[in-house]
Amino acid sequence: MSDLQPREQWNTRLGFILAAMGSAVGLGNIWRFSYVTGENGGAAFLLVYLLCIVAIGIPILMAEFTIGRKAQSDAVGSFSKLAPGKPWVIAGILGVASAFIILSFYGVIAGWTLHYFTQYITGGLASEPAGGYGDYFGGFITSTFHPLFWQFLFMALTIGIVYGGVKKGIEKSNKILMPLLAVLVIVLAGYSMTLGGASEALSFLFTPDWSALANPSVYLAALGQAFFSLSLGMGALITYGSYLSKEHRLPGAAVSVAGLDTLFAILAGLMIFPAVFAFGIDPSAGPGLVFITLPGIFDNIAGGQLFGLLFFFLLAAAALSSAVSLLEVAVAYFMRKFEWTRQKTALLIGGIIFLLGIPSSLGMGVLSGVTIIGGRDILDSADFLASNIFLPLGGLVIALFLGWGWKKADALQDSDFGDTTVGNAWVFVLRYFAPVAIFIIFLSSIGLF
Ligand code: PHE
Repeated sequence: MSDLQPREQWNTRLGFILAAMGSAVGLGNIWRFSYVTGENGGAAFLLVYLLCIVAIGIPILMAEFTIGRKAQSDAVGSFSKLAPGKPWVIAGILGVASAFIILSFYGVIAGWTLHYFTQYITGGLASEPAGGYGDYFGGFITSTFHPLFWQFLFMALTIGIVYGGVKKGIEKSNKILMPLLAVLVIVLAGYSMTLGGASEALSFLFTPDWSALANPSVYLAALGQAFFSLSLGMGALITYGSYLSKEHRLPGAAVSVAGLDTLFAILAGLMIFPAVFAFGIDPSAGPGLVFITLPGIFDNIAGGQLFGLLFFFLLAAAALSSAVSLLEVAVAYFMRKFEWTRQKTALLIGGIIFLLGIPSSLGMGVLSGVTIIGGRDILDSADFLASNIFLPLGGLVIALFLGWGWKKADALQDSDFGDTTVGNAWVFVLRYFAPVAIFIIFLSSIGLF
């Protein structure tokens, strides 16, 4: 976009907050949160996760909003504009790389969601298939072309919205669907609690087994989940902040986004784990957890087919608004860099990301023998690299940039904190606490601390 054209802006403050919430709330809260919590032992993990959100996540979220609104540019451009020639821009470059990696596999899982949605329309999952829901899921994800079709369709929807631009595309779709998803998750959580696994689930989620903390990988998993779920560390929120005009106040927005995101995750936990225990499923069953557990709930419920249909529709919609923010990071960057039109950039970059995601999908089936990072399959490796390494690293650089690369007075003013206790505490966290904490977690995960 040339400098002469006014930069696109959100219509309203609410529109911005909803868009940021739409980015944050997605598969991360329901699919990823539940299986990562299940794999890492439940309550103790949840506690570390909450600490990561409050002590590291929210301050960095504020930093991203502040940078984006000040610079009025994309993830890379914001750094080169505010600090020309300085190495901080590495955070933006890491961010664009993360957008490619995350969206590549995000499209695969979101495609599964779309498939489940249509299965509930046609009644294909209305009653338990022979062999159970686990077998059904396994059969679907290991087939070669079928999941690719759904991944393609999901990516086409994502591209379509980004193609339409910030206001028309991104802002509108969030306003209606997110509140609906919240209501449905609450209703389903209430129902799931009646299935007989409630007390086990509550103690799994809220009574910490401290021995889980002896495993150093728990900390990195919690940190990665916090970054992933808040859409943090890769410039998505810098990019969204850049469509914001100066008269909006940031701290309130940051806290509402993080609060809602966390609430969604906990509610998702209350929806999934009671059913996990009621049906005797292993909580550490991995990425398929949601796709195996939820159909069991719908099977038990009166009108379950309708609930299933609604749920997977809303989950796909939540995934869509997150995917849009991922694609937008890359599109905003390439548009500016090469002076391409929004339309051309969305098609080209979205198409490339679809292709990049194919191996993640095939890794479930024909390529199932392939492992890349520490025994992880292709999708898990992409997820691990982006979520647990790139995002926290990007966040580390963002924290240092705001903490050390800006004059403190500017940081306080540009964030709307002013020279207050909270504002000063925020700068302290960005300067010292967050960088040191992230660094220690990295070291501990490779066994050095
Ligand atoms: N936060 C999104 C989710 O929870 C995923 C996401 C990650 C979106 C990073 C943008 C950037 O589903």
